[in-house]
Amino acid sequence: MERSLSMELVRVTEAAALASARWMGRGKKNEADGAATEAMRNVLNTVPMKGTVVIGEGEMDEAPMLYIGEELGTGFGPSVDIAVDPIEGTNIVASGSWNALAVLAIADKGNLLHAPDMYMDKIAVGPEVVGQIDINAPVIDNLKAVAKAKNKDIEDVVATILDRVRHEKIIHEIREAGARIKLINEGDVAAAINTAFDKTGVDILFGIGGAPEGVIAAVALKCLGGELQGRLQPQNDQEIERCKKMGVDYKKTLRMEDLVCGDDAIFAATGITDGELLRGVQLKGSHGLTHSVVMRAKSGTVRFIEGSHSFKKKPDLVIR
Ligand code: FBP
Repeated sequence: MERSLSMELVRVTEAAALASARWMGRGKKNEADGAATEAMRNVLNTVPMKGTVVIGEGEMDEAPMLYIGEELGTGFGPSVDIAVDPIEGTNIVASGSWNALAVLAIADKGNLLHAPDMYMDKIAVGPEVVGQIDINAPVIDNLKAVAKAKNKDIEDVVATILDRVRHEKIIHEIREAGARIKLINEGDVAAAINTAFDKTGVDILFGIGGAPEGVIAAVALKCLGGELQGRLQPQNDQEIERCKKMGVDYKKTLRMEDLVCGDDAIFAATGITDGELLRGVQLKGSHGLTHSVVMRAKSGTVRFIEGSHSFKKKPDLVIR
């Protein structure tokens, strides 16, 4: 894969973030998602690649744009799998709260898990803890492993988890172990990535969230040298059927190589609302400011990029 693709992909997430930021706090998550999706698709079609969406906005009959199987890019360049989430945290944007991202991941064709749109149990850590966690082990063992790898007491470890009734037991176990918790309302992609950055103060992610988000977060952690393990959590017979149809074993522990195979993968994200790692979009009238991260697994390069986008010179960036 061309390394120049990294910069092209940031343009894509910047466009999605700028478009959806106009809807921040306006209580209209579908409008925000629609604006981000359209902007993301438009810019993706200018990227020199032969891309196929493997994780997107839904099946072809459910989503008009960025549907699974849609071919994107100029049609010249490398053949890649694309995983998109124009807004990771639609409710966050609608309410104007913390950590909404526009995210995108690509890998060589056939290398991303075609995860069905259902729940996935996840555990994620940054590079210092790689190889030390096990999704099948008790919570306390994983917390001890984090404490040991990071050379701190278990009381200093911070776990992050979606604030959901389904997590009552695991939250209780984390508290019993003496570790601290950062509960989040939405957005476990940002939460998983945060485990790889000391400044965010988060050491480990636990809990059940979306499976597509699990694959996207795994690409980010691959670039960062971290680790995510997952297991699909079908909720009914229909979802079990869907796994079978897609040839995905829902009982299997999914490790990094199952989620994103090989090391030719790129991840890009732009903050829509403020978060621990990325600032959100700031609209300044004549221009908009963005804050993004782009990383490439092959080289391990991680770039933070601040963008200033002129609405006078590029009026197509203004979507009202
Ligand atoms: P959306 O952007 O699709 O709304 O997803 C937000 C999110 O919080 C994800 O980060 C997370 O994986 C999933 O939803 C959790 O699902 P649920 O809200 O059903 O617990």
